[in-house]
Amino acid sequence: MLPTLAAVASLTLAQGDVSILPEPRSIRVGEGTFQIRPDTVVVAPNDLRAKAEQLRGYLCPATGFELPIVGRRPRGKEAIVLAKDAKLAKLGQEGYRLVVNQTGVEIRSAGEAGVFYGIQSLRQLLPADVFRQAPIAGVRWAVPIVTIEDQPRFAWRGSMMDSARWFMPKEFVKKYLDLLALHKLNTLHLHLTDDQGWRIEIKKYPKLTEIGAWRAQTLVGHYSDNLKEAKYDGQRHGGFYSQDDLREIVAYAAARHITVVPEIEMPGHAQAAIASYPELGNTDKTLEVHQTWGVNENVFNVNESTILFLQDVLSEVLEIFPSKFIHIGGDECPKKQWRESPVAQARKKELGLKDEDELQSWFVRRMDTFLDGKGRRLIGWDEILEGGLAEGATVMSWRGVQGGITAAKAGHDVVMTPTSHLYFDYRQSRDPGEPLAIGGFLPLARVYSYEPIPDELSADEAKRVLGAQGNVWTEYISTPKRFEYFAFPRVCALAEIVWTPREQKDYARFVAALKVHGKRLAALDVNYRRPTEADATMPDRFEDEE
Ligand code: ACM
Repeated sequence: MLPTLAAVASLTLAQGDVSILPEPRSIRVGEGTFQIRPDTVVVAPNDLRAKAEQLRGYLCPATGFELPIVGRRPRGKEAIVLAKDAKLAKLGQEGYRLVVNQTGVEIRSAGEAGVFYGIQSLRQLLPADVFRQAPIAGVRWAVPIVTIEDQPRFAWRGSMMDSARWFMPKEFVKKYLDLLALHKLNTLHLHLTDDQGWRIEIKKYPKLTEIGAWRAQTLVGHYSDNLKEAKYDGQRHGGFYSQDDLREIVAYAAARHITVVPEIEMPGHAQAAIASYPELGNTDKTLEVHQTWGVNENVFNVNESTILFLQDVLSEVLEIFPSKFIHIGGDECPKKQWRESPVAQARKKELGLKDEDELQSWFVRRMDTFLDGKGRRLIGWDEILEGGLAEGATVMSWRGVQGGITAAKAGHDVVMTPTSHLYFDYRQSRDPGEPLAIGGFLPLARVYSYEPIPDELSADEAKRVLGAQGNVWTEYISTPKRFEYFAFPRVCALAEIVWTPREQKDYARFVAALKVHGKRLAALDVNYRRPTEADATMPDRFEDEE
């Protein structure tokens, strides 16, 4: 029988050498260790050969061991065994059992993803030096004797990368995918288009990247509505992913059991597209790719040709991204230009719509029907509730949790990503030395405290909450190193929100584990923000609750 949770926690802390993030569902630590040596074999059936190679690839650089991979365990040989096991179906495809004893390691799961997550836990059972890329002399590659049974709490365990405001290079996207996988996150939402840049090659409309991927310069310092005094950096900035780059990213993610959900923003956040193809806009004004931040009134027009243009774009997107969910944005779409445009007003009348909210809703429905016809599902920010939610739409609740509650009660799936807890572009401390941020105050403890299931939902409605996601918007995050600083360690806290059972979350244990985990992140060259005294304890209440 497994010991009680409290006993497990104290045992884990007492052991001091087991700190897996996110905390597994159950972990029993025994006496002693198993040591991985150069001739330890990895045993895997053919259908887990790729996982065995991944495991070897993870361990090889730091240990220097080219572990042999074999199909069957030689009698009496020390081994790391990977196995599919239908008897573990109760843990789902992503759950696993990991047993370490004196003769080796066994990772078993009903699914390949579960074996992969068992491997992620095994990496974290080894000394943190295992994350280095060259052998370190004198390290004993010992794994504590443990039995772990584990499975995720939520199916959608996501992070959003905004690659539109500042282009994030392909190699960094891959590094971030590796880091998400280490934390057992399974969804990368790529925000690919916005006012300040269009980052995905579309073969039918080459100007989207010839023009839309480049801006002449960028605002320096914080955005304000009064731009009279604004300074610009005078630096051309841009970049985009070719379709082959994106296929490479998708394949890299899939090998790590991560789905890449692309976002093509509409009808707002469209200035880069309109700068490329002026006929997509509502006015005769010539537009440049936007050089400042904030919410922008230059939105797509509602002409049939624009709907077809965007469906053409989505057709190419679907060819690249196998994701069931396709994100169409939908947030922050000012209706001013639609109200002022005779063409948009005539369109509204022709469609028999009451107001501009209904016009946006009609726009989103056109995309919903289109995606549904292709066997995909539309997801959008919570503004897509306004003017009526499209039939098959899933809602990403960002302006707090109310959008998620409303959508779940109406029978729609939701992903929770409220600014109050999961906006990783907000400041992590009050220290004036913190880098420029969009605003807000979102320390580690507050992220950790987040519970994705709102109290307002019944047990049945709660099933509509697919999971949660931490968003890294990049207005003020212009480099991968800065991105890492904003993302980590808040991504580590997110991992426990979406993976660890609610009753096992424990901030003190998490902070203690983070001390060890920080060594792993450091070895991986992650520029994570080091927690301070102020992050050490969970406050009784947060400032805005006072
Ligand atoms: C958003 O933060 N505008 C979704």
